[in-house]
Amino acid sequence: MRTRLDHLVSSALQYGSAVPAFTCYDFTTALAVVGAAEEAGRGVILLVAPKTAATRDGLRLIAALRGLADAALVPVAVQLDHASDLKVMADAVASGADSVLADGSALPFEDNIALVREARTLLGADVVIEAELGGLAGDEDRAFGVEPGPVAGMTDSAQVEEFVSRTGAELLAVAVGNVHGRYKGEPQLRWDLLQDIAVQTHVPLVLHGASGIPADELAKAASMNVGKVNFNTELRTGVLATLQDQLQEHRADGENLQGLLRHWSDSAQAFVKTALGLLAR
Ligand code: 13P
Repeated sequence: MRTRLDHLVSSALQYGSAVPAFTCYDFTTALAVVGAAEEAGRGVILLVAPKTAATRDGLRLIAALRGLADAALVPVAVQLDHASDLKVMADAVASGADSVLADGSALPFEDNIALVREARTLLGADVVIEAELGGLAGDEDRAFGVEPGPVAGMTDSAQVEEFVSRTGAELLAVAVGNVHGRYKGEPQLRWDLLQDIAVQTHVPLVLHGASGIPADELAKAASMNVGKVNFNTELRTGVLATLQDQLQEHRADGENLQGLLRHWSDSAQAFVKTALGLLAR
């Protein structure tokens, strides 16, 4: 059943847990994410990358994910991730996204606020808006090794209250040492900063770059009002490794694409189950 993203997140937080969100570049992965969530009886968020949503096929994928969310036996929300282009946001919502991350984190503070407010005016009150304060290092779609975020790019906790109240965002993505892609070495999250941020606002916080963050740290983050954690790299690299392993065998087996897709789905499901287990309440 399709559910408002903020409702999904706040009900998980009531139980001391966070909702995992998974980047889906394709429908096979999305089916696997929802199937694993149904087996676990837990809600999930399907993320669409902005480069995907900027194409006609990507908008059709969003429409398909909305249909999948409607048919799901557990709560599911569809979110456009990291968008800074208002047209891409409007197109994604018109195609079926319930929520957008209006990402002005690369902009100066006032311009970031202005972008989120423009997104609200354009998209209306029914669309759940996540905003981001502080910038994450790394690439959203490719897994290069990244040093944990530079201090200068981290969220400034002194700006949080003003940012949230002036933007009206329902969720706030933070930069506390998390990065997109692979961590070089161990992730080193700034717990003191996360705590400072958490006391500045009541809106749920979002931790991007969850791939590679140990289970106990994800649980600790949930206890500090982090209600949504975003995974891409681990899901994607797991699927790619499986496809590499299975490709020759399935070519030899009568060009068996159906069999190969089953392995793709199994790999994605296994990762989603692991992530749901990490966030078990
Ligand atoms: P990872 O690729 O590091 O898991 O981050 C995903 C993410 O934050 C998507 O928004």
